[in-house]
Amino acid sequence: EGVSAEPTSENFCGGFRVSHVSIAKANRKNSHTRKLINNAIMSNDFLKKLEPQHMREMVDCMYEKVYTEGQLVIQEGEAGNYLYVLAEGLLEVIQNGKMLGEMRPGTAFGELAILYNCKRTATVKAVSQSHIWALDRQTFQTIMMQTTQARHEEYFSFLRSVSLLRELPEEKLAKIVDCLEVDHFEKGEYIIREGEEGNTFFIIAKGEVKVTQSTEGIPEPQEINTLGVGDYFGEKALISCSCFCPLPFDYRNFNQMVGTYEELQAYLKEYVEELSRSDER
Ligand code: CMP
Repeated sequence: EGVSAEPTSENFCGGFRVSHVSIAKANRKNSHTRKLINNAIMSNDFLKKLEPQHMREMVDCMYEKVYTEGQLVIQEGEAGNYLYVLAEGLLEVIQNGKMLGEMRPGTAFGELAILYNCKRTATVKAVSQSHIWALDRQTFQTIMMQTTQARHEEYFSFLRSVSLLRELPEEKLAKIVDCLEVDHFEKGEYIIREGEEGNTFFIIAKGEVKVTQSTEGIPEPQEINTLGVGDYFGEKALISCSCFCPLPFDYRNFNQMVGTYEELQAYLKEYVEELSRSDER
């Protein structure tokens, strides 16, 4: 009685505070296990938006636990200390004494209390002996914070190197960083097409982009430029369209976060008009 389903130790290394890097080394996994955990996380609606780097570190830091038949993994109403992925066995989910469903291998669960800092919304019980990978809350939060910070620093210094944004005040650049999204394009894939309405502004983070343009009387579009890292395109979208989206991002989101969208747009508009003038010369 009164025994909680989840241990309260801060992480799985005997309760010692250790860095998640050392936890990762102690918990090396084979590729089958990594794939299973990865797929489980990607199929969870609440976790699938995590960045690949978060995902990798989480997989690295997960620790295996074995539950016997009938044992509780999670108890409804308790505080949540771990996020789990079922590798082997069968679990059932119970809420208010009512069975809600079963969980089979390849399922991530226990994410709600960890992500939203709420009490466990349901009980999870082992129907048969089950092997479960677990990640403690503290390690999860440390990974999220560290990788977010590393990403922020990396994007910030990259954007600073882009000529268009060089003069932008630091706090504005930092806020743009928060809204950036990275998009990947395969070799040969079109990013934007001539003649289409443009609503996205792109900066090249990696790779090379060919720019082509049609000329009257010539059947095939001709190559007019090659752009590389730090170059940008689609900047005319910034003046012709009400939507401003570096590395496609949502203008509403940007406006909410920065609150000074008009100011930034005015700055960029001036810059782009200057560019157009020099194009015409
Ligand atoms: P959490 O609330 O942290 O702990 C209990 C977990 O059970 C919960 O996260 C979900 O992962 C999972 N869960 C909650 N409700 C359901 C449901 N209706 N069906 C399947 N799984 C559920």
